[in-house]
Amino acid sequence: MKRALVTGITGQDGRHLSKLLVENGYQVFGLIRGQANPKAEMVLEENPAIEMIDGDLRDLSSLIAAVEQVQPDEVYNLGAISFVQLSFKQAELTAEITGLGVLRMIEAVRIVGGTDNNPIRFYQASSSEMFGKVRETPQTERTPFHPRSPYGVAKVFGHYTTMNYREAYGMHASSGILFNHEGPLRGLEFVTRKITNSLARIKLGLQNEISLGNLEAARDWGFAGDYVEAMWLMLQQEVPDDYVISTGEIHTIREFLDLAFEIAGYDSWEPYVRHDNRFDRPAEVDLLMGDATKAKEVLGWTPKVGFRELVEMMYESDLASETEKMRRNS
Ligand code: NAP
Ligand code: GDD
Repeated sequence: MKRALVTGITGQDGRHLSKLLVENGYQVFGLIRGQANPKAEMVLEENPAIEMIDGDLRDLSSLIAAVEQVQPDEVYNLGAISFVQLSFKQAELTAEITGLGVLRMIEAVRIVGGTDNNPIRFYQASSSEMFGKVRETPQTERTPFHPRSPYGVAKVFGHYTTMNYREAYGMHASSGILFNHEGPLRGLEFVTRKITNSLARIKLGLQNEISLGNLEAARDWGFAGDYVEAMWLMLQQEVPDDYVISTGEIHTIREFLDLAFEIAGYDSWEPYVRHDNRFDRPAEVDLLMGDATKAKEVLGWTPKVGFRELVEMMYESDLASETEKMRRNS
């Protein structure tokens, strides 16, 4: 039975990935930070086969202890401050966790090492946010980086650290440069889920409007369940490498609103959406569009869920859970 250690197991991707790994016959260990982290219970309810290990990406000794205890075949480093807007307000903490946290995690893997025949394989959750003010479209593994947020800067550090450990120590370390991926498990702070959840609440008469920032930004949105398969595939390759994971299709926030409101049975979203400059960013990423040709050719990976299906899935899930909450409260 293969053993995997997953940081960020309580996040969107951690929940999808741990499900996939258990289905693939792995024994899964999740790194959990803090005292009595309430999200750990939620993950265990979903997936009782997971074992939780204490540790924090700010604390190298806890990471070494976790790797020593688990003796993993594979480590997936998903833990981060991942909300771009928050990274402007907590830049130092973002550098500490999202940036230096990668160095600590991969250093723990290097120190513990695994056996010569079976070295520990490492996955780093890199991001399309590294492309920032994009130098070309679509973006590939060779497109230069130009990050536009403390989060993007920290991810560039983590990305180059992973590459450096691969080159300097011959480690099996790969980075997935993942474009935005969403789904019903997405945090409510991200724009897609904020829209589908607010829309469900508007439909049920629980809220009147949605406050949003820049509606002109365009993103290449895929489904998180598809993207975690790419993470796993990267670590099954003989040779470690970096891969762009994306759909190649872009939509603006405006287009997301068009489709979501149409699915919910409204003619127009305009009466329900208000601009609030608290959601504008000091520096914006206007457009991200990935070219995942390499992942298709080498990993055999392609996304399965399309844009309409994704928006429908998110709206239907929010409508069901908000209806259930209403029923319980009445
Ligand atoms: P997410 O839902 O925000 O989850 C982040 C996870 O990081 C949570 O489990 C959180 O744990 C954990 N974490 C935060 N600080 C930590 C610390 N000090 N030590 C250990 N763990 C810590 O993020 P996601 O959407 O699943 O994304 C997973 C990874 O992929 C992140 O690194 C993100 O930056 C990257 N990424 C995401 C996307 C995307 O579109 N989703 C695209 C590209 C890259 P708590 O429960 O304790 O807070
Ligand atoms: N969150 C949010 N809230 N974003 C808004 C809002 C709002 O009210 N209004 C407009 N936006 C715009 C943002 O300015 C941005 O251009 C776009 O919607 C997407 O914002 P997010 O959903 O917060 O995602 P992100 O693209 O900044 O970052 C996500 O994707 C990255 C990959 O490109 C995160 O998951 C990152 O962790 C990930 O690396």
